[in-house]
Amino acid sequence: MFERKGIYTRFLLVLCGLELSWSCPRHCICYTAPSTVSCQAHNFLSVPEGIPANSERIFLQNNKIHRLLRGHFSSTTVTLWIYSNNISYIDPSTFHGFTLLEELDLGDNRHLRSLASDTFHGLSRLNALHLYRCGLSALPNNIFQGLRNLQYLYLQENHLKFLQDDTFMDLHNLSHLFLHGNRLWSLHQNTFRGLRALDRLLLHQNQIQWVDRLAFHDLRRLTTLYLFNNSLVELSGQCLDTLPALEYLRLNDNPWSCDCKALSLWEWLKRFKGSTSTVGCQAPAPMLGQDLKQLKQEDFPHCSPTVPNSESRAQSKTNNLSGTTRIVHPPPPPAARPGRSRNCTKPRNRSGGKGKGDNEVHSKELMADKEDSSPDFGDGGKYDHTSPDGTVTRRKHKCTPRTTVRPPSGVQQANNRAALMHRSSLYLGLLLGALVISDMAHILR
Ligand SMILES: *[C@@H]1O[C@H](CO)[C@@H](O)[C@H](O)[C@H]1NC(C)=O
Ligand SMILES: *[C@@H]1O[C@H](CO)[C@@H](O)[C@H](O)[C@H]1NC(C)=O
Ligand SMILES: *[C@@H]1O[C@H](CO)[C@@H](O)[C@H](O)[C@H]1NC(C)=O
Ligand SMILES: *[C@@H]1O[C@H](CO)[C@@H](O)[C@H](O)[C@H]1NC(C)=O
Ligand SMILES: *[C@@H]1O[C@H](CO)[C@@H](O)[C@H](O)[C@H]1NC(C)=O
Ligand SMILES: *[C@@H]1O[C@H](CO)[C@@H](O)[C@H](O)[C@H]1NC(C)=O
Repeated sequence: MFERKGIYTRFLLVLCGLELSWSCPRHCICYTAPSTVSCQAHNFLSVPEGIPANSERIFLQNNKIHRLLRGHFSSTTVTLWIYSNNISYIDPSTFHGFTLLEELDLGDNRHLRSLASDTFHGLSRLNALHLYRCGLSALPNNIFQGLRNLQYLYLQENHLKFLQDDTFMDLHNLSHLFLHGNRLWSLHQNTFRGLRALDRLLLHQNQIQWVDRLAFHDLRRLTTLYLFNNSLVELSGQCLDTLPALEYLRLNDNPWSCDCKALSLWEWLKRFKGSTSTVGCQAPAPMLGQDLKQLKQEDFPHCSPTVPNSESRAQSKTNNLSGTTRIVHPPPPPAARPGRSRNCTKPRNRSGGKGKGDNEVHSKELMADKEDSSPDFGDGGKYDHTSPDGTVTRRKHKCTPRTTVRPPSGVQQANNRAALMHRSSLYLGLLLGALVISDMAHILR
C-alpha cells in the first residue's frame, strides 16, 4: 500500500520534471524544493536510513523512535520535527554544526528526562525549540547558550523545580517563554536575566510561592504574565513595577492573603491600566472569597504605608507615623541596589500546607475564574496558544515562527495519511490524464 503510494509519488515527480530523490527512505515521502522527507506516524523504532543528505525539512513525528545519534540527520536541516516519539537519549553531538536549523521540535518525548548541556550549542539560527512534555526535571547549565535567534521556547509540562540563574541569559531575541505546568516554587533575581525582548511569560500551574522583588527586572517588553494556579500568598507591587509594557496579568487561584501584606499589590492594581484576573483572598477569615481588586482603603486599617510609588511621600508619612505606629516595612534605598533585593514573597513552609489544599479552599473562586484557568492549558502541549486577551485557542499548527517555511499541505500534520493518499490519487489522475492526452496525440499523428 505505502510502497505503491511511494512509487506513484516518485513517478509523478519524474513526470513533473522535478529532481528525483532516489534515496527516499522506505515508507516515507520525499519532495523537493524545499527538499522534504516526511516519515510521520509509521511506528518507526529508529530514524529511518537513507534520508537524503541535502534534506531541509524532516518530519518524523508520531513514531516510536527511541534515540537520536550523530549522523542521523545532515547539517542542511532547517526544520526537524520529532515530537511524540519515545526518545530517551539524544547524543550531545546529534545537532553539532547544524547552523541552518531554524525549528527543532522534540516535544512530547516523555522518557527524555535529561539533556547534555551542549546539545543545542552552535544552533545560531534556531528560532523555535520545543521541549514540552519531555519529563525534564532540570536544565543543565548553559543549555541555551548562544541561541541568539531563538524566539519561541516551549518548556511547559515538564517536572522543572528550579531554574538556575542566567539560564536564559543569551536569549536576547526570545519572545515567548512557556514554563507552565512545571513544579517551580521560586523565582530569583536573575532567573530571567537577559530576556529583554520577552513578550509572553507563562508560569501558571506551578507551585510558585516566592518571587524576588527584582525577578522581572529585565522584562521591559513583557506584555503577558500568567501566574495563576500557584501558591502565592503575597506579591509586592514593586515586582510588577519593573514591567512597563505589561498588559495582561493573571493572578487567580493563588492563596492570597489580603491583610497588610497585600497593600502594595492592591495599590499597584489600582494604578494598572491593563487587564487582570480576579485576585481572590483566602485570608484573613473575614476576607475569604473577596477579590483584592474590589477592596477599599478602609479594608487595610492599621497598615503602614507601602513605598512603591513615591519614595519621598512614603518617607514623610513614615516619619509622621513613626512616633505612634510601629513601622513594619522600612522604605528601601532610593535606587534598587543589585545584590540586595528584598523578597516580594515570604518563603512558606514547603513541607506542608500548599498545593492541592489551597485549591480546595477557594472552590468558589475557581468557579468565578473558570475562563482564566482554561483546562486547555493543562494538556494543550504543542497546541497551547494564548491570545492577548488571555483566552486559549487551539490551532492546527503550533506557534508558527514567522521565518519558518511551512511544509506543503498534506505533510503538515500527523495522521493525515488520508490527505496524502488523496494527494497521490490526484497525481495519479493527472498522470493518467497526461498519458491519455499523449496517446491521443500519438494516434492523431
Ligand atoms: C518508551 O521508552 C521507555 C524507556 O526507554 C520504555 O520503558 C517504554 O516501554 C517505551 N514505550 C514504548 C511505547 O515503546
Ligand atoms: C531577532 O528577531 C528579529 C525579528 O523579530 C529578527 O529580525 C532578528 O534578526 C533576530 N535576531 C537577532 C540576533 O536579533
Ligand atoms: C492547578 O494546577 C494543578 C497542577 O499543578 C492542577 O492539577 C489543577 O487542576 C490546577 N487547577 C486549576 C484550577 O487549574
Ligand atoms: C501627620 O499626619 C497627620 C494626619 O495623619 C497630620 O494631621 C499631620 O499634619 C502630619 N504631620 C506631619 C509633620 O506631616
Ligand atoms: C528571601 O528569601 C530567601 C528564602 O527563600 C532567604 O534565603 C533570603 O534571605 C530572603 N532575603 C531577604 C532579603 O529577606
Ligand atoms: C513545616 O511543616 C512541617 C510539616 O507539616 C511541620 O512539621 C513544621 O513544624 C512546619 N514548620 C513551620 C515553621 O511551620
